[in-house]
Amino acid sequence: MPVDSYSKLVNARGVYTFRDFVLLPGRSDIEPSNVDLATNLTNKVKLNLPLVSSPMDTVTEADMAIALARQGGIGIVHRNMPIEEQVENVKRVKRAESFIIRDVVTISPSQKVSEAFDLMVKKSISGLPVVDNDERLVGILTRRDVNFAGKEEEVRAVMTSDVKVASADVTIDEAKRIMHHNRVEKLPVIDEDKKLLGLITIKDVYSREKNSLASRDAEGRLLVGASVSPFDIERAKALEKYVDVLVSDVAHFHNVNIIESAKKLTRQVGTDFIAGNIGTSEATRDIISALEDRLAAIRAGVGSGSICITSEVTKAGAPTLFAVAQIAATLAEEKLSIPIVADGGIRAAGDATLALAAGASAVMMGNVFAGCTESPGGLIKIGGKYYKPYRGMGSASSRQKRFAMDRYNQPAKGIAEGVEGVVPYRGDVQTVVEEFVGGLRAAFGYSGAISIADLWSKARFGAVSAAGVDELRPHNIILPGEEKI
Ligand code: XMP
Repeated sequence: MPVDSYSKLVNARGVYTFRDFVLLPGRSDIEPSNVDLATNLTNKVKLNLPLVSSPMDTVTEADMAIALARQGGIGIVHRNMPIEEQVENVKRVKRAESFIIRDVVTISPSQKVSEAFDLMVKKSISGLPVVDNDERLVGILTRRDVNFAGKEEEVRAVMTSDVKVASADVTIDEAKRIMHHNRVEKLPVIDEDKKLLGLITIKDVYSREKNSLASRDAEGRLLVGASVSPFDIERAKALEKYVDVLVSDVAHFHNVNIIESAKKLTRQVGTDFIAGNIGTSEATRDIISALEDRLAAIRAGVGSGSICITSEVTKAGAPTLFAVAQIAATLAEEKLSIPIVADGGIRAAGDATLALAAGASAVMMGNVFAGCTESPGGLIKIGGKYYKPYRGMGSASSRQKRFAMDRYNQPAKGIAEGVEGVVPYRGDVQTVVEEFVGGLRAAFGYSGAISIADLWSKARFGAVSAAGVDELRPHNIILPGEEKI
């Protein structure tokens, strides 16, 4: 039976990209410095900045996740590696900082000073709480104590027995005051029976003060996420104890088998699960009904990524701005407040503001973060300038890595959906985030919005004609580095 393709063409909905819109300047009494960019990544996980780094093997491993969480965002550790390695990356983020260290390395009073010394070197620590067989605190041994003691002496002979301690409900200010007052750098935390519960170090207290906007869990550790395939329950289970959020990492989540697997996964793993990627109302409705209250957030956008050739190769795509708007409208109709993460195609703060204005709670970026010092991979010098490697997770080389096989699956699809190249080196995450946040604040100021929720209601879009795109960027000027003789 012939179909009426003509009316399908005529009635096709418009899909919009970041270049198709501007934010209309609105009446504003907002100073950029007063804008509050705090947001919900999920209804449980709060961030101070709406910035998420992509789970890609040239973007997010532990170093990136630590640096970004310290600024107030969150990194999603990629899964193009064995399960144990991904878990280890996540654990490194969790170990990077904490108010009270829980897995404290201890020593017993009858052990030798030489053993204490070896332990300190091996674990790179400068102090060991000394506990008896019942885990009760009897002293503390510092690097200074061991430096001046005989190697064969027992720990009990050289340790400090008069230990300053705190109880489990100690606040950060109290802990700091006790340490300052007594000139100690380590403060064991004990219960009523003197059993050791944890350890506070002055280093962690200072780091907390320095990074006051950092994204932290209840224990003061940095927040971190990890990506999983919805089919990989084993990986999700290995990660769930350590991560704050699991992020689905498939290009087309609106697939019956994938949704069924995600349903199973979320029944067995309690960690917040961000589903995606999707980009249409229909997909939104299907995942809402399949995952119900286990849908913690939605990863939005298909085909907009800077390394993406999905649309070029397959003609399939739901550009990120369009995807966010579709999903937001559907959630509004359903009266559901599920955060949306806009993923792909964001080049600068203006694009991010458009995505937030369209209803996103956070933006996920690969390209922007790939150029930072903390992304995996070294600097590459080309023609006197520095670059860093960046590749799509569906690129030929990334798919060759065994563990990438299920995102843009070679046997299933047999074609590459991403490219591989380099991006300009941008400096460290802190510098890049500060500049980006400056842009976001300025954009919020133009819109008259004090917060992301305020932007959702106040933002007004202006449609740019194809001919107008060039006028809205520098033109009729030769910029440094672009001169051709
Ligand atoms: P940006 O624009 O920030 O986009 O570089 C990053 C996002 O792109 C997605 N991604 C891919 N999409 N083929 C694709 O079609 C790929 O090989 C690929 N690798 C990553 C992903 O959503 C990421 O966050």
